[in-house]
Formats: sequence, structure tokens, C-alpha cells
Amino acid sequence: MRMVRYALLFVAASLLGLSPALAADIAAGKEKAQLCVGCHGDNGISSMENVPSLAGQPDAFTQWQLIFFRAGTRKNEQMQPIVEQLDNNDIRNLGAYFASLPPPDKKPDDNPDLSAKGKQAAAGRRCASCHLDSFAGTKAVSRIAGQREDYLVKALRDYKSGVRAGGGMAAMADVAYSLSEEEIEALAHYLAHL
Ligand code: HEC
Ligand code: HEC
Repeated sequence: MRMVRYALLFVAASLLGLSPALAADIAAGKEKAQLCVGCHGDNGISSMENVPSLAGQPDAFTQWQLIFFRAGTRKNEQMQPIVEQLDNNDIRNLGAYFASLPPPDKKPDDNPDLSAKGKQAAAGRRCASCHLDSFAGTKAVSRIAGQREDYLVKALRDYKSGVRAGGGMAAMADVAYSLSEEEIEALAHYLAHL
């Protein structure tokens, strides 16, 4: 029920966004993002284990995840006290700000064999059918190209085990359910080095 209420709020807020006074404000998003730098890094590039980079994420993906954390359908002890401080306007501005930042630089691949296995798994599982051929994501579907490898492993394990469930995650729960640990590690390595 709470989820539905937040989803409706979000839709209502998006519709209101059509009026110029409430259009997303990237500068205000950047200012609010001071709250995020300590964990998600300067310019949305994380150098902290298990903390995702946010730079270059689709606007709607970031907004939805913040709504899910705030509604409690996505749970994380570190994010909880943060989202309590965000109103819908902040969320809209943060989504626009992080989408405006360039994604992480391509990292040199220290294990091309593992990447080849990951590439094969991604093709077999049709990951690109939702995440796009570039794996840059779109709308509520995340960018996974260039994301931290440790975080990609964690996210796929969380979908598989059901830790990350509810909201918009049903698509990923279905995908991750049948992934083996070997496939998860190969996929994460491949995607992190794109
Ligand atoms: C104390 C550390 C910390 C702070 C500060 C923090 N975050 Fe996070 N954030 C995390 C962690 C850890 C995760 C990963 C949660 C998980 O594993 O599910 C996360 C996940 C996210 C996600 C989901 C991204 C994805 O790829 O799934 C978004 C969006 C996000 N944070 C936005 C923000 C914003 C915006 C701020 C500032 C307003 C912020 N965070 C501040 C630790 C933090
Ligand atoms: C049917 C569409 C669909 C397919 C196929 C799909 N995904 Fe996703 N994926 C999504 C959606 C939607 C999300 C965001 C879900 C959420 O809100 O948690 C997502 C999220 C993710 C995340 C979390 C990213 C983050 O920043 O938190 C990872 C990692 C991921 N997908 C990897 C994969 C991999 C690897 C494959 C192929 C094995 C795949 N996906 C196939 C739709 C899909």
C-alpha cells in the first residue's frame, strides 16, 4: 500500500514537472548531492566497496531507487537516513544531476578470459534486451556498463536471494534466479570493464 502511495506521488510529481517552476534543477541537484559524496564519490564515481557509482545513470532509474528506499521496499541501512531527508523535488533534481554526469572511465581488463565468459552469458541471457546494447540503461533500467565489479556481484546476488525484491525488481528477480555463482562473477567482470 505504501509503495502504491509513493508510486502515485511520483507520477503526480512527474506530471507537475510539466510546469516550468518545477522542472528539474541540475544545479540544485548538485548542491543536494553534497550529502552523497562521502559514499558515492566525487562526480558520482564511487571508490568505496559495494557502493555503486551514480554518474550516467538514467534519470528515472535514480529517482525510482530513491523512492524505493524511501518507501522501504528497497532496504539499506546506509541509504535509509539519507532518503529521509529528501523530498520529491530533491529526488527529481538528484536524478537529473547524476544523469548529466559522464559515466566512469573504461578500466583496463586484467582478465579477458573471464570477460569473454561474461559476454557469452550476457548474450545467452539477453541482458541487452532491457539494458540496451551499450548496457547504458534507459528509463527505469539501470546503467550496468562500467559499474563497480564488487557492487554488480552484490546486486545480482541480492536479486537472486530475494534480498532486493519488490517495486520494479520483478524483471531482475526472474533473470537472476537461475544465474550460477560462476555466471554472476563473469557477468560482473565483463560489465565492469565496458
Ligand atoms: C553512508 C553512505 C551513503 C550515503 C551518504 C549515500 N549513499 Fe546511496 N548508497 C549507499 C550504498 C551502500 C548503496 C548500495 C545499497 C545496496 O547494496 O543495495 C547505495 C545505493 C544508492 C542508489 C541505488 C543505485 C543503484 O545502482 O542501484 C542510489 C540511487 C543512491 N544510493 C543515491 C544516493 C544519493 C542521491 C545520496 C545523497 C543524497 C546517497 N545515495 C547517499 C550508500 C550511501
Ligand atoms: C526484462 C528486462 C531485464 C533483463 C532481461 C535484465 N535486466 Fe537487469 N535490470 C532490469 C531492471 C528493470 C532493473 C532495475 C530493477 C530495480 O529497480 O531494482 C535492472 C537492474 C539490474 C542491476 C542492478 C543495477 C544497479 O545499479 O543497482 C544489475 C546488476 C542488472 N540489472 C544486471 C543484469 C544482467 C547481468 C542481466 C542479464 C543476465 C540483466 N540485468 C537482464 C531489467 C532487466
